Amino acid sequence: MRRTDTVEERSVRNVIILAAGEGKRMKSAVPKVLHPLLGRTLLGHVLAAAEPFLDSGTVTVVVGHGGAQVREHLAEVAPEARPVTQEERRGTGHAVRIALDANPELTGTVVVLNGDIPLLRAETLAALVHTHEATKAAATVLTAEVPDPTGLGRIVRNRGGEFAAIVEERDATPDQRAIREINSGAYVFEATALREMLGKLSTDNDQGEEYLTDVIALLAAAGSAIVAHRAPDATETLGANDRAELAGLRALMRDRINTEWMRAGVAIIDPATTWIDVTVTLERDAVVEPNTHLRGATSIGEGAVVGPDSSLIDVVVGPGATVVRTHAVSAHVGPQASVGPFAYLRPGTELGRKSKVGTFVETKAATLGEGAKVPHLSYVGDASIGEHTNIGAATVFVNYDGVRKQRSTIGAHARTGADNMFVAPVTIGDGAYTAAGSIIVKDVPAGALGVSRAQQRNIEGWVERKRPGTAAAEAAQAAQAREENHAGAGQVAETGLPDEQ
Ligand code: UD1
Ligand code: CA
Repeated sequence: MRRTDTVEERSVRNVIILAAGEGKRMKSAVPKVLHPLLGRTLLGHVLAAAEPFLDSGTVTVVVGHGGAQVREHLAEVAPEARPVTQEERRGTGHAVRIALDANPELTGTVVVLNGDIPLLRAETLAALVHTHEATKAAATVLTAEVPDPTGLGRIVRNRGGEFAAIVEERDATPDQRAIREINSGAYVFEATALREMLGKLSTDNDQGEEYLTDVIALLAAAGSAIVAHRAPDATETLGANDRAELAGLRALMRDRINTEWMRAGVAIIDPATTWIDVTVTLERDAVVEPNTHLRGATSIGEGAVVGPDSSLIDVVVGPGATVVRTHAVSAHVGPQASVGPFAYLRPGTELGRKSKVGTFVETKAATLGEGAKVPHLSYVGDASIGEHTNIGAATVFVNYDGVRKQRSTIGAHARTGADNMFVAPVTIGDGAYTAAGSIIVKDVPAGALGVSRAQQRNIEGWVERKRPGTAAAEAAQAAQAREENHAGAGQVAETGLPDEQ
């Protein structure tokens, strides 16, 4: 076998990801590698771990079950990756062979990974590749020492502690079964050696499959150097076969992410109930209260407090802001703004510095200027509210006429009354007021008071006449009697005569 050791070829690093498996035990219409785990799919995590050291190399993903869905996902998250279809599941060796056949020009280093090991760190992969390149091995196997090796290939080492063989469980002797160092299914190969040995694989085994592990055996038999590189943290090599195992991986990932943020200066009050996607960023002295989910492109500014009981999806929270018991999606919360408790921020919400969205308030495509407040029980849809304006409790921006959504604008320093309806499109000028209970259908100029409500009239004695004998009528009679007495006493006082003397 001829080896190529030129610097140019060494520098090309390629990745092949095996993702053709169905994942039957997931019992899902979604292919296993597309199940989500704290901000990425399983496959997305593997792609992210491989990305940093790729350089100019190729990424090939072997797809099979749910291939169309996996291709669609790849186009979205890793357009540079090339999907190759394995029509029939004919083994890990066969899958790699298909990937190489699709890349006839491929040379250099080839990393092979299973698509369902989301906890693998980029650093571990980099160390694996470094070991491979430094030792000039033909193949380097990522191994791990696990508490329960059941079902996995065991790593047999010779007396000197060097790699000797991978033995699958079904072929292992009782002694070999007791070995707890396993084959993770992640490898690095020298491309030429890999290609040569893939051509020699047989299907002469109990599953009738081409085993990638046989490439290692063939290389070893030919006298090539094989290196076993142990992962520092065995959990990195864990895969998930069913949803219970996936939940286990998710908890491990949660702990890893939370620990990193705490070490970076973020206060996480209850790490067990705090779920932060890998894609989220937090600044120091941010506080995450219990039972809080931070997802997607969310970022939390310095000293901001989020939670408890909040879900933020693609939300930017400025420094010093507080977001309490809130569900928020695609929103921007300005510095020192205050949100909640019990708020719902929908897409297009932009809250200015020191603004407030209070209790039982829903916003959508809404802009609040600096210091603007919507404190209670309101819906703000398709509206702009100027700086330092206060919106009265129980206000609705009536943005939908059943056909079209339209915007309304409230100026700066306005004071709108409680229980207003702003029927869009309507504009309220700077410094204007509106009266409580008004339905505002016309613009209110700057500095004016907008009033739209019927005059109040009281029909005296109505309850006694129309609801005689009720508790209300009795209460009304008693109140009247008290009032008459009081009026009588007043008259006595006016005569100048003392009450009791
Ligand atoms: C393989 C290794 C075993 C190792 C284990 C780690 C072999 C023969 N054995 O086990 O030593 O401990 O991985 O998980 O390789 N796949 C395809 N196409 C196929 C077959 C598999 O894409 O035709 C993909 C699967 O979707 C999966 C990965 O390859 O992502 C591994 O396949 P799996 O069946 O889980 O591996 P085993 O053969 O059980
Ligand atoms: Ca009302």
